[in-house]
Amino acid sequence: MPSRPLLLGVNIDHAATLRQARYRGAHLSPHAEPDVVAFTREALAGGADGITLHLREDRRHIQDDDVHAIAAIPGLRLNLEMACTPTMTDFAVRLRPAAVCLVPESREEVTTEGGLDVAGQLARVRETTQALKAAGIEVSLFIGPDAPQIDAAVAVGAPVVELHTGAFANAWKSPAADAELARLRAGCGHAHQLGLIVNAGHGINYDNIRAILTLPHLHELNIGHSIVARALFKGVRGAVAEMKARLTNPA
Ligand code: PXP
Repeated sequence: MPSRPLLLGVNIDHAATLRQARYRGAHLSPHAEPDVVAFTREALAGGADGITLHLREDRRHIQDDDVHAIAAIPGLRLNLEMACTPTMTDFAVRLRPAAVCLVPESREEVTTEGGLDVAGQLARVRETTQALKAAGIEVSLFIGPDAPQIDAAVAVGAPVVELHTGAFANAWKSPAADAELARLRAGCGHAHQLGLIVNAGHGINYDNIRAILTLPHLHELNIGHSIVARALFKGVRGAVAEMKARLTNPA
Protein backbone atom coordinates (compact mmCIF):
# COMPACT_ATOMS: atom_id res chain seq x y z
CA MET A 1 0.00 0.00 0.00
CA PRO A 2 1.35 3.46 -0.79
CA SER A 3 2.07 5.61 2.27
CA ARG A 4 0.47 8.71 0.73
CA PRO A 5 -2.61 8.87 -1.45
CA LEU A 6 -2.01 7.75 -4.98
CA LEU A 7 -3.10 10.42 -7.43
CA LEU A 8 -5.48 9.82 -10.34
CA GLY A 9 -4.80 11.57 -13.61
CA VAL A 10 -7.75 11.17 -15.94
CA ASN A 11 -6.82 10.97 -19.61
CA ILE A 12 -9.66 12.50 -21.63
CA ASP A 13 -8.33 11.72 -25.13
CA HIS A 14 -11.06 9.24 -25.91
CA ALA A 15 -13.84 11.69 -25.15
CA ALA A 16 -12.34 13.66 -28.05
CA THR A 17 -11.99 10.45 -30.09
CA LEU A 18 -15.75 10.00 -29.86
CA ARG A 19 -16.39 13.59 -30.91
CA GLN A 20 -13.95 13.37 -33.83
CA ALA A 21 -15.63 10.18 -35.06
CA ARG A 22 -18.56 12.37 -36.11
CA TYR A 23 -17.21 15.94 -36.10
CA ARG A 24 -13.76 15.69 -37.66
CA GLY A 25 -13.02 19.13 -39.12
CA ALA A 26 -16.06 20.55 -37.28
CA HIS A 27 -15.15 20.24 -33.61
CA LEU A 28 -16.16 23.89 -33.02
CA SER A 29 -19.62 23.31 -34.45
CA PRO A 30 -22.37 24.08 -31.91
CA HIS A 31 -23.58 20.53 -32.55
CA ALA A 32 -20.25 18.86 -31.77
CA GLU A 33 -20.50 16.38 -28.90
CA PRO A 34 -19.35 15.27 -26.45
CA ASP A 35 -18.13 18.56 -25.06
CA VAL A 36 -14.65 17.73 -23.77
CA VAL A 37 -14.56 20.73 -21.44
CA ALA A 38 -17.80 19.60 -19.79
CA PHE A 39 -16.34 16.08 -19.66
CA THR A 40 -13.26 17.49 -17.91
CA ARG A 41 -15.37 19.37 -15.36
CA GLU A 42 -17.28 16.18 -14.57
CA ALA A 43 -14.01 14.25 -14.18
CA LEU A 44 -12.83 16.88 -11.68
CA ALA A 45 -16.14 16.66 -9.84
CA GLY A 46 -15.64 12.88 -9.63
CA GLY A 47 -12.30 13.34 -7.91
CA ALA A 48 -9.67 13.50 -10.67
CA ASP A 49 -6.45 14.93 -9.25
CA GLY A 50 -5.34 16.04 -12.68
CA ILE A 51 -6.30 15.91 -16.33
CA THR A 52 -4.08 14.38 -18.98
CA LEU A 53 -4.44 14.90 -22.69
CA HIS A 54 -2.31 14.07 -25.68
CA LEU A 55 -2.03 16.62 -28.44
CA ARG A 56 -0.92 14.29 -31.21
CA GLU A 57 0.84 15.62 -34.25
CA ASP A 58 -1.92 14.11 -36.43
CA ARG A 59 -4.60 15.74 -34.17
CA ARG A 60 -6.58 12.52 -34.29
CA HIS A 61 -8.47 13.28 -31.07
CA ILE A 62 -7.54 16.30 -28.94
CA GLN A 63 -7.40 19.60 -30.88
CA ASP A 64 -5.42 22.75 -30.06
CA ASP A 65 -8.66 24.51 -29.05
CA ASP A 66 -9.35 21.73 -26.54
CA VAL A 67 -5.97 22.16 -24.91
CA HIS A 68 -6.41 25.92 -24.51
CA ALA A 69 -9.97 25.62 -23.20
CA ILE A 70 -9.03 22.94 -20.67
CA ALA A 71 -5.84 24.71 -19.58
CA ALA A 72 -8.00 27.76 -18.74
CA ILE A 73 -10.07 25.87 -16.14
CA PRO A 74 -9.06 27.40 -12.79
CA GLY A 75 -7.17 25.12 -10.44
CA LEU A 76 -6.83 22.30 -12.95
CA ARG A 77 -3.51 20.43 -12.98
CA LEU A 78 -2.83 19.77 -16.66
CA ASN A 79 -0.48 17.06 -17.85
CA LEU A 80 0.18 17.48 -21.56
CA GLU A 81 1.37 14.38 -23.39
CA MET A 82 3.33 15.21 -26.50
CA ALA A 83 5.97 14.12 -28.95
CA CYS A 84 9.58 15.09 -28.37
CA THR A 85 9.77 17.65 -31.19
CA PRO A 86 10.73 21.33 -31.44
CA THR A 87 7.20 22.27 -32.59
CA MET A 88 5.56 20.63 -29.61
CA THR A 89 8.20 22.01 -27.26
CA ASP A 90 7.41 25.54 -28.46
CA PHE A 91 3.71 24.83 -27.97
CA ALA A 92 4.27 23.61 -24.39
CA VAL A 93 6.59 26.46 -23.45
CA ARG A 94 3.92 28.93 -24.56
CA LEU A 95 1.13 27.03 -22.78
CA ARG A 96 3.07 26.26 -19.58
CA PRO A 97 1.04 23.33 -18.28
CA ALA A 98 1.95 21.98 -14.84
CA ALA A 99 3.47 18.90 -16.44
CA VAL A 100 4.50 17.48 -19.78
CA CYS A 101 4.87 13.77 -20.46
CA LEU A 102 7.05 13.01 -23.47
CA VAL A 103 5.67 10.05 -25.41
CA PRO A 104 6.69 8.34 -28.64
CA GLU A 105 4.62 8.99 -31.73
CA SER A 106 6.74 7.63 -34.55
CA ARG A 107 7.88 4.05 -34.91
CA GLU A 108 11.61 4.78 -34.62
CA GLU A 109 11.15 6.43 -31.19
CA VAL A 110 9.49 3.39 -29.63
CA THR A 111 11.21 0.76 -27.48
CA THR A 112 10.12 -2.86 -27.46
CA GLU A 113 7.94 -1.95 -24.47
CA GLY A 114 6.16 0.74 -26.44
CA GLY A 115 7.66 3.51 -24.33
CA LEU A 116 9.90 6.35 -25.47
CA ASP A 117 13.41 5.17 -26.39
CA VAL A 118 15.23 7.68 -24.21
CA ALA A 119 18.46 5.67 -24.19
CA GLY A 120 18.49 5.63 -27.99
CA GLN A 121 18.07 9.40 -28.41
CA LEU A 122 19.69 10.94 -25.35
CA ALA A 123 20.67 14.27 -26.90
CA ARG A 124 17.21 14.95 -28.33
CA VAL A 125 15.33 14.04 -25.15
CA ARG A 126 17.82 15.98 -23.00
CA GLU A 127 17.39 19.12 -25.09
CA THR A 128 13.59 18.94 -24.90
CA THR A 129 13.60 18.10 -21.19
CA GLN A 130 15.88 21.01 -20.37
CA ALA A 131 13.82 23.48 -22.46
CA LEU A 132 10.62 22.42 -20.70
CA LYS A 133 12.22 22.53 -17.26
CA ALA A 134 13.57 26.02 -17.97
CA ALA A 135 9.94 27.07 -18.56
CA GLY A 136 9.00 25.74 -15.12
CA ILE A 137 7.25 22.62 -16.44
CA GLU A 138 7.57 19.28 -14.65
CA VAL A 139 8.86 16.74 -17.17
CA SER A 140 7.91 13.10 -17.22
CA LEU A 141 9.13 10.45 -19.66
CA PHE A 142 6.81 7.60 -20.70
CA ILE A 143 9.14 4.60 -20.75
CA GLY A 144 9.16 0.84 -20.45
CA PRO A 145 10.08 -0.41 -16.97
CA ASP A 146 13.64 -1.28 -17.93
CA ALA A 147 16.81 -0.20 -16.13
CA PRO A 148 18.54 1.24 -19.24
CA GLN A 149 15.58 3.52 -19.99
CA ILE A 150 15.25 4.53 -16.34
CA ASP A 151 18.97 5.29 -16.16
CA ALA A 152 18.63 7.33 -19.35
CA ALA A 153 15.77 9.34 -17.79
CA VAL A 154 18.14 10.32 -14.98
CA ALA A 155 20.88 11.13 -17.49
CA VAL A 156 18.69 13.63 -19.36
CA GLY A 157 17.55 15.30 -16.12
CA ALA A 158 13.89 14.25 -16.05
CA PRO A 159 12.47 14.29 -12.51
CA VAL A 160 9.55 11.95 -13.29
CA VAL A 161 9.00 8.73 -15.22
CA GLU A 162 5.69 7.20 -16.22
CA LEU A 163 6.20 3.46 -16.48
CA HIS A 164 4.34 1.86 -19.39
CA THR A 165 1.88 -0.69 -18.02
CA GLY A 166 0.64 -1.78 -21.44
CA ALA A 167 2.57 -5.06 -21.61
CA PHE A 168 1.24 -5.98 -18.17
CA ALA A 169 -2.32 -4.99 -19.13
CA ASN A 170 -2.12 -7.10 -22.30
CA ALA A 171 -0.87 -10.06 -20.26
CA TRP A 172 -3.48 -9.66 -17.49
CA LYS A 173 -5.14 -12.97 -16.65
CA SER A 174 -2.62 -14.87 -18.78
CA PRO A 175 0.39 -16.83 -17.48
CA ALA A 176 2.66 -13.95 -18.51
CA ALA A 177 1.03 -11.42 -16.15
CA ASP A 178 3.15 -12.26 -13.10
CA ALA A 179 6.38 -11.74 -15.01
CA GLU A 180 5.17 -8.39 -16.37
CA LEU A 181 4.15 -7.30 -12.89
CA ALA A 182 7.56 -8.34 -11.56
CA ARG A 183 9.22 -6.22 -14.27
CA LEU A 184 7.11 -3.24 -13.26
CA ARG A 185 7.95 -3.86 -9.60
CA ALA A 186 11.66 -3.89 -10.37
CA GLY A 187 11.27 -0.76 -12.50
CA CYS A 188 9.44 1.10 -9.73
CA GLY A 189 12.15 0.14 -7.24
CA HIS A 190 14.99 1.12 -9.55
CA ALA A 191 13.45 4.47 -10.47
CA HIS A 192 12.66 5.31 -6.85
CA GLN A 193 16.18 4.39 -5.77
CA LEU A 194 17.54 6.88 -8.31
CA GLY A 195 15.34 9.62 -6.86
CA LEU A 196 12.72 9.71 -9.61
CA ILE A 197 9.01 10.27 -9.05
CA VAL A 198 7.26 7.17 -10.41
CA ASN A 199 3.97 7.32 -12.25
CA ALA A 200 2.36 4.57 -14.33
CA GLY A 201 -0.19 4.28 -17.08
CA HIS A 202 -1.64 2.63 -20.17
CA GLY A 203 -4.21 -0.12 -20.17
CA ILE A 204 -5.07 0.17 -16.48
CA ASN A 205 -8.71 -0.75 -15.83
CA TYR A 206 -11.12 -1.34 -12.94
CA ASP A 207 -10.00 -4.96 -12.67
CA ASN A 208 -6.23 -5.04 -13.22
CA ILE A 209 -5.75 -2.02 -10.97
CA ARG A 210 -5.72 -4.33 -7.95
CA ALA A 211 -2.41 -5.76 -9.20
CA ILE A 212 -1.06 -2.31 -10.08
CA LEU A 213 -1.77 -1.18 -6.51
CA THR A 214 0.68 -3.79 -5.20
CA LEU A 215 3.55 -1.92 -6.89
CA PRO A 216 5.80 0.19 -4.66
CA HIS A 217 6.57 3.92 -4.80
CA LEU A 218 3.79 4.96 -7.18
CA HIS A 219 2.83 8.63 -7.17
CA GLU A 220 0.16 8.92 -9.89
CA LEU A 221 -1.73 6.67 -12.29
CA ASN A 222 -2.91 7.98 -15.64
CA ILE A 223 -6.03 6.22 -16.80
CA GLY A 224 -8.16 6.97 -19.84
CA HIS A 225 -9.86 4.32 -21.93
CA SER A 226 -11.40 2.30 -19.13
CA ILE A 227 -12.83 5.39 -17.40
CA VAL A 228 -14.27 6.79 -20.64
CA ALA A 229 -15.82 3.40 -21.41
CA ARG A 230 -17.37 3.09 -17.95
CA ALA A 231 -18.68 6.64 -18.19
CA LEU A 232 -21.10 5.39 -20.87
CA PHE A 233 -22.86 3.41 -18.16
CA LYS A 234 -22.22 5.40 -14.98
CA GLY A 235 -21.62 8.92 -16.21
CA VAL A 236 -18.23 10.62 -16.11
CA ARG A 237 -18.44 11.69 -12.50
CA GLY A 238 -19.48 8.23 -11.33
CA ALA A 239 -16.82 6.45 -13.39
CA VAL A 240 -14.05 8.69 -12.07
CA ALA A 241 -15.33 8.43 -8.49
CA GLU A 242 -15.37 4.63 -8.76
CA MET A 243 -11.75 4.54 -9.96
CA LYS A 244 -10.72 7.03 -7.32
CA ALA A 245 -12.33 4.81 -4.66
CA ARG A 246 -10.30 1.85 -5.91
CA LEU A 247 -7.10 3.87 -5.57
CA THR A 248 -8.00 4.93 -2.07
CA ASN A 249 -9.44 1.67 -0.77
CA PRO A 250 -8.19 -1.25 -2.84
CA ALA A 251 -10.61 -4.21 -2.63
N1 PXP B 1 -0.26 7.27 -20.10
C1 PXP B 1 0.20 7.60 -21.32
C2 PXP B 1 1.58 8.15 -21.44
C3 PXP B 1 -0.62 7.46 -22.46
O1 PXP B 1 -0.16 7.81 -23.67
C4 PXP B 1 -1.94 7.00 -22.28
C5 PXP B 1 -2.85 6.89 -23.46
O2 PXP B 1 -2.43 5.95 -24.32
C6 PXP B 1 -2.36 6.65 -21.01
C7 PXP B 1 -1.50 6.80 -19.93
C8 PXP B 1 -3.75 6.15 -20.76
O3 PXP B 1 -3.90 4.90 -21.32
P1 PXP B 1 -5.34 4.22 -21.32
O4 PXP B 1 -6.22 5.05 -22.20
O5 PXP B 1 -5.07 2.85 -21.86
O6 PXP B 1 -5.82 4.22 -19.91
